[in-house]
Amino acid sequence: MNWIDRLARPPALSHQEWRDFFASLNDENKNELKQKAIGARRDHYGTDVYMRGLIEFTNYCKRNCSYCGIQRSNQEVQRYRLSEDDILSCCDQGYWLGYRTFVLQGGEDPFFTEERIVRLVERIKKTYPDCAVTLSVGEWPKSSYQAFFHAGADRYLLRHEAASDKLYRSLHNGESNANRLQALWDLKEVGFQIGAGFMVGAPGQTLDDLIEDLIFLQKLQPHMVGIGPFLPQSDTTLADAEPGTLEWTCLLLSIIRLILPEVLLPATTALGSLDPKGREQGLLAGANVVMPNLSPTNVRDLYALYDGKICTGDEAAHCRQCIEKRIASTGFRVNMTRGDHPTRRSIHAN
Ligand code: 5AD
Ligand code: FES
Repeated sequence: MNWIDRLARPPALSHQEWRDFFASLNDENKNELKQKAIGARRDHYGTDVYMRGLIEFTNYCKRNCSYCGIQRSNQEVQRYRLSEDDILSCCDQGYWLGYRTFVLQGGEDPFFTEERIVRLVERIKKTYPDCAVTLSVGEWPKSSYQAFFHAGADRYLLRHEAASDKLYRSLHNGESNANRLQALWDLKEVGFQIGAGFMVGAPGQTLDDLIEDLIFLQKLQPHMVGIGPFLPQSDTTLADAEPGTLEWTCLLLSIIRLILPEVLLPATTALGSLDPKGREQGLLAGANVVMPNLSPTNVRDLYALYDGKICTGDEAAHCRQCIEKRIASTGFRVNMTRGDHPTRRSIHAN
């Protein structure tokens, strides 16, 4: 059996086997890998691409991730937070554009206490009972995850950022990744559909680090995986670091599709920001989700995790149409349903 077929079958590859796999890659079998990833995606999802409406509701953050433009120590960024009513009106606009998943993403903003997030989730779920709510609000005590789940949140995105403790520490001022990884297990146990993920080409990242990420994903078995290229942000200490590449990001998308065939895998905004056809390339490598922005245009450019972010001047309706065209021209079909993971579909009227 060749390496590519081995990826999709148990037992999971050992670290050394992953190294051998990467060493065996050439142009020909890279293409085979991509075709098999597309095949796996087609087997589970046909040509459907799921749409999520992203609401970036606060750029205040108490953390200091060295790569991120909204880190606490960045004095240059103008901070904003949306009110509960603002967030609800983003949902309203999103609902009328057809979205049935809202992703609430923000920095770790102390203003948004557990109670405030709970109230927000309850309000959205009460107003739009047919919609899924995804939280992407960083690390909390397990009891808060339980409160969010109880309030009706369906999914939780928390990129693990780096499964390698050494790399994680180098990107997070010496802090260990133990809490981060544990948080994902906690979220899963609480009952969320969970999303992990990492940046491709993060400063200092080696092939061995990426292998650790793949091994971690295979153990965790998340429902979603968000990966995108690292892109430098000019106010950070990593302003001059090299960005990640389209080629590596697409290669990793294909590999992730093969080791987690049913995973919901976005073609991320970062990938679209790296290359004008980045999201299309991501779909062609095995991705099946896109997350257009629903944030109000007057705050869009302030959620500047990295430089050169696309869509900062575009209305939600514009992005909705733009992305639909891109999806169609790549040979795929927009799916506006909630788009739960196949293992969770039966419990919701989809
Ligand atoms: N380049 C690319 N992705 C970034 N993120 C944060 N900063 C950057 C950057 N400079 C990613 C992180 C985070 C997600 C919301 O955005 O992985 O989890
Ligand atoms: Fe926003 Fe294309 S998705 S302008």
